[in-house]
Amino acid sequence: MKNKSLVSINDYTKEEQLRVLELAREFEKNPVQTILQDYVVASLFFEPSTRTRLSFESAVNRLGGKVIGFSEASNTSVKKGESLRDTILTIANYSDLIVMRNPIEGSARFASEISPVPIINAGDGANQHPTQTLLDLYSILKTQGTLDNLHVAFVGDLKYGRTVHSLVIALCNFNTTFHLVSPLELKLPSSVKMHIKEKNLTYHQYTDMEEVIPNADVFYMTRIQRERFSDPLEYERIKNSYNLHHDMILNTKDNFKVLHPLPRVNEIDINVDSSPKAYYFEQALNGVYVRQALMALILGLLQ
Ligand code: CP
Repeated sequence: MKNKSLVSINDYTKEEQLRVLELAREFEKNPVQTILQDYVVASLFFEPSTRTRLSFESAVNRLGGKVIGFSEASNTSVKKGESLRDTILTIANYSDLIVMRNPIEGSARFASEISPVPIINAGDGANQHPTQTLLDLYSILKTQGTLDNLHVAFVGDLKYGRTVHSLVIALCNFNTTFHLVSPLELKLPSSVKMHIKEKNLTYHQYTDMEEVIPNADVFYMTRIQRERFSDPLEYERIKNSYNLHHDMILNTKDNFKVLHPLPRVNEIDINVDSSPKAYYFEQALNGVYVRQALMALILGLLQ
């Protein structure tokens, strides 16, 4: 995996994805090291982020590396009209690895094709968020003890939710049964559903999330992605489609876990947070170990 950019989750084979998870387990046991002490990671966020940017930066800092970058492109020469190409070619001179979030779908692929250093896609528009997927897989593995043969419910904005797109594609390697819950306007795109069909896996579509709760092992909730709507009135009409409350998950399977990539808006009530079935804050912590593992592999420091 040395020098191998991660743009879409399928850029890495199932075996490579499992290797990241295996190494993440080692970093979780021992997260403070010096293996990145000679390395500079560039963190380029053209779109807002809390977890992805700061967990990458935490991961680098805990491994002794240095971070350069920006959290707002408005403070850079992009504001003066500099192209993405020139931005990447310049920053590649200053760093060993570039982590980039950009609102334009395909921007990370473009960057990976012109960059002399590897690119990690930290989210490109509504397309993909592959490092979130690796930490989601790690969280599922930790909580379920397996990735195989699970009933996974995806709830919320399946159209624009890039974390959903990447995770559905990854779970197609593990004989998952998919329960897809969304408003009719926000169904999973056919380009993603195609991956489920290609593997002859079972999927069901719903609009009511309560139908799915009793059968689910993993309940993966997402927020309605306001920033992707062209019509603000349409967002206002749909934004409160789902609201999970503590009482709704009292009679779930013993292994049932609520995951959410976060941020949440109001789709999970805070009264769920104290339930042992709520896992979203631990999930966010797992991002540090998974990103440590990923960077160590891409920089060729571990194999
Ligand atoms: N899960 C996730 O991508 O969160 P941020 O937008 O805060 O990075």
